[in-house]
Amino acid sequence: MKIAIVTGTRPEIIKLSPVIRACQKKGINFVLINSGQHYSYEMDEIFYNELKLPKPDYNLEVGSGTHACQTGKIMCRVENILKLEKPDYLIVLGDTNTTLGSALAASKIPVKICHIEAGCRSYNRLMPEEINRVVTDHISDYLFVQSELVKNILLGEGIPENQIIVTGNTVVDSVYQNITHARESSKVLSKLSLSDKSYFLLTLHRQENVDDPKILNRILKGLDLVIQKYGLPVVFPVHPRSKKMIDLNEISVPNGIICIDPASYLDFLMLESCAKLILTDSGGVQFEACVLKVPCVTLREETEIPESVIVGANKIAGSEPLSILNSVEEMLLRNNNWDNPFGKGNSSELILDYLCSTFVRK
Ligand code: UD1
Ligand code: UDP
Repeated sequence: MKIAIVTGTRPEIIKLSPVIRACQKKGINFVLINSGQHYSYEMDEIFYNELKLPKPDYNLEVGSGTHACQTGKIMCRVENILKLEKPDYLIVLGDTNTTLGSALAASKIPVKICHIEAGCRSYNRLMPEEINRVVTDHISDYLFVQSELVKNILLGEGIPENQIIVTGNTVVDSVYQNITHARESSKVLSKLSLSDKSYFLLTLHRQENVDDPKILNRILKGLDLVIQKYGLPVVFPVHPRSKKMIDLNEISVPNGIICIDPASYLDFLMLESCAKLILTDSGGVQFEACVLKVPCVTLREETEIPESVIVGANKIAGSEPLSILNSVEEMLLRNNNWDNPFGKGNSSELILDYLCSTFVRK
C-alpha cells in the first residue's frame, strides 16, 4: 500500500503532522508532496523543522495567485506526481486550494481520495473555503469526520454512509503530541514580557475579514473596546495576508495590540494555552482553543465548527464592535469545564488503521 500525502498551507502541515508520524511508526510507504501554496519560512518550513517531519519528496512551488491560477497549478503539478508515483490513496485535509486542486487531480486518474476534516459546513458560499470543502467531499472516496454531527451533514447531502468514518480531528493529536514540549521549551511569554492569563490572543486572516478595510477597521474597533475595558494587551501574530492588507490600506492598529511575526507552532500553542481568551477567525485556532480549554470568540458571522459553540467553548461575534465586546464579557463569565468534542487524540491512528483494513492489493 502506498499513500500520497499533500500539504500546502500552515494548518495542513500542522494537522497532517500526526498522520505523517503515524505512517512512519506503522512502516507505511508514503510520498510527501508540498504544494508550496505557503512558502514564507514562518508559514511553511518552520513547521517541517519544528515538528521534525521528513523533507517533502516534492515541492511544487505553486506560490500565491488568484484562486483559479493557484488551484489550476496545483492540479497540473499534483497530477504529474500522482502519475509518476502511482499511490493507492491520496490524503488531503481541510478546505484550502491545495486540498481541492490535489483532490481534483486524483479524481480523474483515478487515485482514491481520503479527505480528513471532511463535512464541515459554514453554509456561506462567499467563503472560498466552503466551495473547496463541498467539492472535495463530493469527489472523495473516504471522508474522515470529527463527529457524528458532521457525519449527519454528509448523510444529508447524499454521501453513502459506508464512505464516512468518524475518527475525531487530527488537530487534537497534534495538540496532545506537542503541548508538553511547548510548555517546556517555548520562551515566547518571557520574550514578550507576558505572564499566564495576562493577555488576549488574536489571529485574523480570513479573506472576507481582512481584504475589506471596512470590516477590518470594525474588528479593530471592537478589539480597542476590549483593551479599554480589561486593560490587557492583545497579542497578534500577523498572517502575511493581513500584513499585506494592513500596509496597503494604511490601517491603523490600536495601541495595546502587540503585532508580532507569525509564531512557530510551539510558541503559538504556548500563547494559546496561557491566553485569558482567544479572538480569532481561524478554523484551526477555534479547534485548539476548545481542546486547550481557553474561551474563544470567533470574529466571523458563522462557523463550520459548531461543536465548540455547542459545548460552550466558543461564541460567534461577527465584526460589530459591541458584539465583540459583549461576546468577550460573556465568554469570560463561563466555566471552562467543557468536554473536547473532537476526539481522543488518536485520529491519525484510526484513519491509517481504516485504510490498512480496506486496502485490497491490485
Ligand atoms: C490560505 C487558505 C485558507 C487558510 C489559510 C491558512 C485558500 C483558499 N485559503 O489562505 O483557507 O485558512 O491559508 O493560513 O486556500 N503570503 C505570503 N507568504 C506565504 C503565503 C501567503 O506572503 O507563505 C501572502 C501573499 O501575499 C498571498 C496572501 O498571503 O497573496 C494570501 O495567501 P493564500 O495562500 O492565497 O491564502 P491565505 O490567506 O494564506
Ligand atoms: N498557528 C501558528 N502560528 C501562528 C498562528 C497560527 O502556528 O502565528 C497555527 C495554529 O496553532 C493552528 C494553525 O496555525 O494549528 C491555524 O492556521 P490558520 O489560522 O492559518 O488557518 P486555518 O486553520 O484558519 O485554516
